[in-house]
Amino acid sequence: MSIQEQQTKLNIGLFGFGVVGEGLYKVLEHTPTLNAQIKKVCIRHPHKKRNAPAELFTTDADLLLNDDSINVIIELIDDSAAAYNIVTTALRKKKAVVSANKKMIAEHIEELIALQLLFDVPFLYEAACCASIPIIRNLEEYYDNDLLQGLSGIVNGSTNYILTKVSKERISFNDALKQAQEAGFAESDPSLDVNGIDAVNKLSILLAHAYGIITPPDALIHTGIQNLNNDDAIFAKEKGYEIKLVAQARKLADGNIAAFVAPQFIESDNQLASVKNEYNGVVIESSLADKQFFYGKGAGGFPTASAVLSDLSALRYNYKYEYKKLRYQVPSALTDDFYVKVCISFKALLQVPHERFDKILEWSSNEQRCHVTGILHFSELVKSNWWKQPNVSIVFYPDAIIDNYVPEKTGVLQEEFVEQLC
Ligand code: HSE
Repeated sequence: MSIQEQQTKLNIGLFGFGVVGEGLYKVLEHTPTLNAQIKKVCIRHPHKKRNAPAELFTTDADLLLNDDSINVIIELIDDSAAAYNIVTTALRKKKAVVSANKKMIAEHIEELIALQLLFDVPFLYEAACCASIPIIRNLEEYYDNDLLQGLSGIVNGSTNYILTKVSKERISFNDALKQAQEAGFAESDPSLDVNGIDAVNKLSILLAHAYGIITPPDALIHTGIQNLNNDDAIFAKEKGYEIKLVAQARKLADGNIAAFVAPQFIESDNQLASVKNEYNGVVIESSLADKQFFYGKGAGGFPTASAVLSDLSALRYNYKYEYKKLRYQVPSALTDDFYVKVCISFKALLQVPHERFDKILEWSSNEQRCHVTGILHFSELVKSNWWKQPNVSIVFYPDAIIDNYVPEKTGVLQEEFVEQLC
């Protein structure tokens, strides 16, 4: 059989005609070789002006889901509860599905994997992590579990855009956020970006494909850029760093995985330092290949549409994720049993329980804030909330995860620290 005969003609039912949906529509119009055609688009607001023929649109989801000639559903809507209903209904009807809804996927990944297997249909979502960067398919296909030592990435374009603009152009946080919203990078609820929730949703999806770990995103330690302040940026600069919001996972010596999302000091020679504005970047470390760097636009209509397009193209050959690390290998397990080197900045001494540090390495204070650098057991962050209070910020150091650390409990330094600050 020729390749052409093996290819499936894709009749698409599209949900959503926002920045990404319209981007995809335009791209498909100019990609006849894909053998794909949008048959109907389901939208919520029928009176909004659209740049496509009116007969393409409907507000009736069932018109798409019950149409047997539609063999692919593309879900690009904002509302994750509605997206869940669309995607699960489509999979049960044995339609292939492409989605970019990271929140919905992260929160329901176990069930979504089960449905794919039960109904033997593809469900692809490359656009859900890092938009234009083909990170999911690479983790799924290329990196064997045993060789994958870790990944660290800037996976949220909006916060990276804000951090870049605030530090390079000295515009205010709110103005930078506004620009990110106007450019279509931010979530419609931008607190999902700012508080690290979008990034942790993406990390939980990456963990499934990197290590076969299925975890609800809110079970992973995460914080965003909401509590960072100018003093933190100045402190970082004095040390030759800049601060980025980083999602990371690392295999420890016992084979278990440490994973979290938090601001991190980035050295100038780290590949992530070159990631500016809405770009994303992921550094993958593997035992034999050392470091590899994936880089590209992580938000915006066309970059996201390009990943959807790539999924569509894969569907012509009936490509499915196999979840190899989960199904054919012993999946790795998450652990909280490791130490981390962090900098905590705060206003009032009482906000930070200094005695919980195993070791305080350095401290400084000025009229505005105190900065403490020390080594903490990671479980301290899991079981307590002091580091999340307003006016307290946490930034992880480069190579923050210290595996096989031998606790020192250097109380004397801590007493000096308290004396100096009181
Ligand atoms: N709000 C997301 C971001 C969009 O800024 O990365 C892409 O997932």
